[in-house]
Parts: sequence; structure tokens; C-alpha cells
Amino acid sequence: MTTATQAAASVTKPAGRDRSIVAFCCRECAYTAADASANARTSLPPSVRLILLPCTGRVSPLHLLSALAENADGVMVAGCLEGQCHYREGNFNAIDRVTFVQRLLESVGVEPERCRMFTMSAGEPPRFVAAVKEMDRVVGALPPLKRHAGGDDQATTATGAGDAVPGTRAGAVRRSAGPALVAPGGER
Ligand code: FES
Repeated sequence: MTTATQAAASVTKPAGRDRSIVAFCCRECAYTAADASANARTSLPPSVRLILLPCTGRVSPLHLLSALAENADGVMVAGCLEGQCHYREGNFNAIDRVTFVQRLLESVGVEPERCRMFTMSAGEPPRFVAAVKEMDRVVGALPPLKRHAGGDDQATTATGAGDAVPGTRAGAVRRSAGPALVAPGGER
């Protein structure tokens, strides 16, 4: 079975599409809502690829950064409504991690809106569809995300190199080799 890490690190753009968005979805709500929207034959933007998680508390900053560093132009985390996580506070942890990644992206000159958190219940397929469309619209309006291929120094810039961000509980990102994100205009 493909893990979230493997999936995030093997993002490919859909054929003929100019952007790719990875959506990490909680099984209990967002994925169920996505399923229901598919059964109702509601189409999603073709740019979006769904990754199933047992809970958004399972997503780590490295999943999000790996997806962006590989090929995704945007990443979204879709979880249960606040206070309704089936694992108590998984979605609050996810909110913290998304905030952490947004600050990290901003610190290297990358648009923080490339990473977003959404919440919904399983009975709200339209809310899921609206979230995905919103993400597709926002990311589609951004300039292309530039990347370097390989290089430890570059990678540590993009993946945080263990710097904790005050006010979040997700400060434990460690050094990681791999492609790095490059700010618009090439600054880092
Ligand atoms: Fe859905 Fe935790 S079970 S976010």
C-alpha cells in the first residue's frame, strides 16, 4: 500500500494540465464527502489528486513540503469540523502544521496560499467540492512554482532545517535531502 509519504513524493501533473494539487483527505469526513460527490457525478477540477488518511492528524509538514518540492503546485488538507475529529484533536494538529508550513513557505518567498486547511463534515459534499475548486482557483492564479533539482543546502532551506515556528506545535521538522522550492525571482 502506498503511504502518504510515498504518495506525496511521487506527484505527477495530470496529462495536459498546467497545475497539480494534492489533497490530503481524512477518511471520516473529507474523503467520504469526496466519495459522495463522485457518486453524484459532481466533477472535480482535474488538477486535484486525493490522498486518503485515517485522520488529518497523520499529515506532517514533510508530507506537504515533499509534495510541493516534487511537483505539486498546491497542497490542501481536508479534515473534520473543528471539535469533531474522531481522534479528538487530529485536525487541530493539522491546522498547526499547515500554519507552520505556510510560515515556512513565506519565509523563503513562496506564496503561503499554496498550502491550505479546510474542514467539513462527511455529509457536506458541496463543501468539499467548493474547497477543491477554491484551491484550484487560487493556485491557478499564482505564477509557476520554481524548483531546484537536488542539493542538500537547497533542500534544507525549503524544509525548515529543524527551525521551530513560535506558536505552533509542529516545530520538529528535521533536515531532509531532496528538491527545494525556489522563491519567485529565484530568491531563497
Ligand atoms: Fe477527521 Fe481527525 S478523524 S480530522
